[in-house]
Amino acid sequence: MAGRLEGKVVIITGAARGQGLAEVQRFRAEGAHVVAGDVLDHDGMYLDVTSEESWAAIVSAAVDAHGRIDVLVNNAGVRALAPVQDMPRAEFQRVLDINLIGPLLGIQAVVPHMPRGSSIVNVSSLNGLASTANSAAYSTSKFGLRGLTKSAALDLGPLGIRVNAILPGVIRTPMIENVLEGREEQLASGLPLGRIGEPADIASAALFLASDDSVWVSGQDFVIDGGQTASTPRL
Ligand SMILES: NC(=O)c1ccc[n+]([C@@H]2O[C@H](COP(=O)([O-])OP(=O)(O)OC[C@H]3O[C@@H](n4cnc5c(N)ncnc54)[C@H](O)[C@@H]3O)[C@@H](O)[C@H]2O)c1
Repeated sequence: MAGRLEGKVVIITGAARGQGLAEVQRFRAEGAHVVAGDVLDHDGMYLDVTSEESWAAIVSAAVDAHGRIDVLVNNAGVRALAPVQDMPRAEFQRVLDINLIGPLLGIQAVVPHMPRGSSIVNVSSLNGLASTANSAAYSTSKFGLRGLTKSAALDLGPLGIRVNAILPGVIRTPMIENVLEGREEQLASGLPLGRIGEPADIASAALFLASDDSVWVSGQDFVIDGGQTASTPRL
């Protein structure tokens, strides 16, 4: 049986580990040609999402090999923690550059090579819906990415390109290893579905948005959080 991404050409950023790696594996299993990019050493290409030159190189590699790009997953991201009053400007800027400007540069680099029917998936966060303490830079970047998603969906709709955002909840990846240490049970018990998320849970959502199954979906936020945001404080 043909995979749900049979023959599609896909670029995934932040693909060395965590959710990005799970997406690479799932998308390949569904028949996609995946070009994986990361700043870390990995089984893919070097890509620094903050660099136009780096984007040009990965886009050239994909287009030289396959002639077009059907899907971009803007997954790369970093977190930096500090109270807003102490957040150094350079650190705030670094997080915005990677989490928000990176996806913008990615969109600008791939769109000229995208045929009608293509899809862009931006990985935001529950921190793009509401914040947590010490997360000014991260939260600002993830709120911004939702705005970029909606705006890009409007501009690219006439070109036949869909743009959506995924907002993951608590997902077991290296990014939050230290958060989970000793607290996993407590965090899991607070979620309606009783467990924290796995990278594969996000890869499934990304697959839906990347594939033709979501052919009439654009500009939307997909919250994948085990039910975390279904609740309001009990009175
Ligand atoms: N883990 C969670 O609980 C969680 C929750 C909500 C959202 N997210 C978001 O999910 C996405 C994936 O994160 P993850 O949880 O897999 O974390 P992770 O830290 O395991 O993976 C992030 C990857 O991005 C790469 N990266 C960082 N800077 C880069 C750059 N300049 N260019 C290219 N790659 C770069 C890293 O090297 C790393 O491989 C991120 O955007 C993150 O903000 C994660």
